[in-house]
Amino acid sequence: MLTGPALRERFAALDHWLCQHRPLWQEAPFTHAQLSWESAYPELAQWLREQTLEHAERYQGQPHLLRSAPTPFSALAAESVQLGQLDALPTHSQNTVAARYAVDIPGRKWQQIDAFASILPQASNNTHWLDWCSGKSHLGRHLLHRLGGELTSLEWDAALVDEARRLTNEHNLCASHHVQDVLAADCAAQLQAEHSPVALHACGELHLQLLRLASQANCTQLAVAPCCYNRIDGPDYQPLSHAAQQAQLQLSRADLRLTLRESVNAGQRARRLRDQSMARRLAFGQLCQQRLGTSAQQATPSIASKWLGLPFHQWAEKVAEYRELELPLSPSDDALEAQGWARLAQIRNLELLGNLFRRPLELWLLLDRALFLEEQGYRVQLGTFCPSSLTPRNALLLACKR
Ligand SMILES: C[S@@+](CC[C@H](N)C(=O)[O-])C[C@H]1O[C@@H](n2cnc3c(N)ncnc32)[C@H](O)[C@@H]1O
Repeated sequence: MLTGPALRERFAALDHWLCQHRPLWQEAPFTHAQLSWESAYPELAQWLREQTLEHAERYQGQPHLLRSAPTPFSALAAESVQLGQLDALPTHSQNTVAARYAVDIPGRKWQQIDAFASILPQASNNTHWLDWCSGKSHLGRHLLHRLGGELTSLEWDAALVDEARRLTNEHNLCASHHVQDVLAADCAAQLQAEHSPVALHACGELHLQLLRLASQANCTQLAVAPCCYNRIDGPDYQPLSHAAQQAQLQLSRADLRLTLRESVNAGQRARRLRDQSMARRLAFGQLCQQRLGTSAQQATPSIASKWLGLPFHQWAEKVAEYRELELPLSPSDDALEAQGWARLAQIRNLELLGNLFRRPLELWLLLDRALFLEEQGYRVQLGTFCPSSLTPRNALLLACKR
């Protein structure tokens, strides 16, 4: 767990390291055929390009375990582990919640919620939870069961709010569920000093808005597990804290995509379909380049994933038709799909180097939020609330007014 002066110290170390190695993580192999660092480390580049897709898959979420890659991979991996280290937050052993309350909640979500709740200190009777971007407010109801207090939840999807109300009634609980766009100007009025906001996986701008509004409203405690750091307004990341505003590192929305690269939760079938879709996109791009002299890789429509059951040439015909391209295809073009798979394997293996910077970059972003809350008069603890196997977005900021 990070707290006190360690927040600022780690932030400074990360800022320096991420800036120093920016060329190694900033360019995405998917969009750059040749990466600028390859000329500096030709042996590493060549080695990574020769590995299989299974190899990339094995190390994708744990690139620091890859020991056999040429230099400077191992040295960077050691630094990545040290700088990206985030320990678990202390847990509190309050009453657990009866398993029957978990019936309406998907298993993994239940485990995340239970872990999140175990981090929160014992509530008093007048604790008023504010479940931010609450979905069906599973988290809010869990806190009522487990810790008591009152509950208000905010969510903009009316169908989810209706479902939250139904579940709350079914469990004989008392709570207010509101349809609210948390980014709308009228949302500030929903936050009061007596609220204890909680946010489990509120995306980019949504949790940033909570940090701003909750500190303005002087809320005494808040607990936030951020996700989707790249979902921000505008093309550039606007740091919250003075420390990050003065930092060397400046980030674009494209840079923030690196934080999403770990996808431990996708099942085998989903991963296979995602890979096939990517491989075909790459093969189609190569085809357009060879026959039409254009690169169409970026423009493959998302609907193309629905046609994946077709042989490659028929799939490509449909994509070409959709994009109004004159691109004659025949069954012999099915062999081209293999080129897409080969290129995908290269991309995924080249990405392993950038993946060493994923957690450190996420931590830089988390520390920006933590330091902002400190500047607003909070004592902040930053750590994990569950293992990364349950969700790769397992970091939680716990802030209490000093
Ligand atoms: C990843 S889900 C998390 C839901 C819930 N916290 C949970 O863990 O189950 C994000 C939620 O934010 C809601 N949301 C997205 N944009 C919103 C907005 N502008 N205002 C309020 N809610 C929003 C979505 O409808 C969705 O329910």
